[in-house]
Amino acid sequence: MPDLSTSYLGLQLKNPIIVGSSGLTDSVEKIKNLEDMGAGAVVLKSLFEEEIIIEMEETIYTMTNRHFVFPETMDYMETVVKDDILLDYLQLITDAKKTVEIPVIASINCVSSQKWTYFAKEIEKAGADALELNLFFLPSDNQRGEKDIMEETFEIISKVKGIIRIPVVLKISTFQSNLIRYVEHIDQSGVEGIVLFNRSWLPDIDINNLVISSGFVLSSPSDLGNTLRWVSIVSGRVNCDIAASTGIHDGAGLIKQLLAGAHVCQIVSTLYINDLSQIRKMTDELSKWMEVHEFESINEFRGRLSQSNSGNPAAWERVQFMKNFRNLIQ
Ligand SMILES: Cc1cc2nc3c(=O)[nH]c(=O)nc-3n(C[C@H](O)[C@H](O)[C@H](O)COP(=O)(O)O)c2cc1C
Repeated sequence: MPDLSTSYLGLQLKNPIIVGSSGLTDSVEKIKNLEDMGAGAVVLKSLFEEEIIIEMEETIYTMTNRHFVFPETMDYMETVVKDDILLDYLQLITDAKKTVEIPVIASINCVSSQKWTYFAKEIEKAGADALELNLFFLPSDNQRGEKDIMEETFEIISKVKGIIRIPVVLKISTFQSNLIRYVEHIDQSGVEGIVLFNRSWLPDIDINNLVISSGFVLSSPSDLGNTLRWVSIVSGRVNCDIAASTGIHDGAGLIKQLLAGAHVCQIVSTLYINDLSQIRKMTDELSKWMEVHEFESINEFRGRLSQSNSGNPAAWERVQFMKNFRNLIQ
């Protein structure tokens, strides 16, 4: 039997499949079930600072039934509501760590930079194996240039790295004007890993009621190519580990990402679309493929088709449909 184990952020995983941050990982029962179904690790549902703020506002409104609140009420809510949500999250980490053997990676998304450090410290104390920073800047503000975003990212990472010892991973989106520069900059900040990519919530328009609605939430296998391109280009240019995320729906997708240079793959949508047995199907497919190709361990082929190793670096950067592709579709 080929050895599917791999190392990610210095953690030993029995296989390279991580169940990504989502509703699939928001309770101990679900996490235990994911371990039983074969997951190599899990990333917990993110703790959203924004959610805490919204909850505070709603609670205040219900309590007082008016928009004006006394400053003391605000202070009280700051402590009680914020701590309630945070405490639940910390309890989830502690209970999950007691229940499962696979690594448990926490995830936070904050809007103010001082909260990143506060949450990070508490999460480390609760026993998380690593911390994923879910960082999402939609660059729609023309007053904020690429340099500002880089500086802000760097500041967040430095603050968090300065306060905790567990590995830190940055999960980013594709919305960056020069992705490679951004990623290299992140790598120099000392993070242990980077997740390429988060998938954003997509808006849509309800043409019957003329209102903004929610777009399709889940990815599809056709989203794989974009992740594959960037994993292959980034691999070999950074020291940190790479987690591929978005559009990995089957064993073939997993194998392709490993060949492109990913250390692990995070999956979410395929588990919602199919079911949790998809984890085992994917690891079985990987195992069989390794046997056929006579690979005994993942390190023997990981990154073999990354941009720097493929022998055809231009293929990863080709963007125009030129004559080579004319025959594919008329
Ligand atoms: C229902 C749902 C909830 C999600 N919640 C989070 C979250 O709390 N934090 C986060 O960083 N990513 C979240 N994501 C993004 C996923 O972790 C993942 O990056 C994205 O779905 C792409 O992977 P996929 O193509 O396998 O779905 C969520 C995705 C879905 C579909």
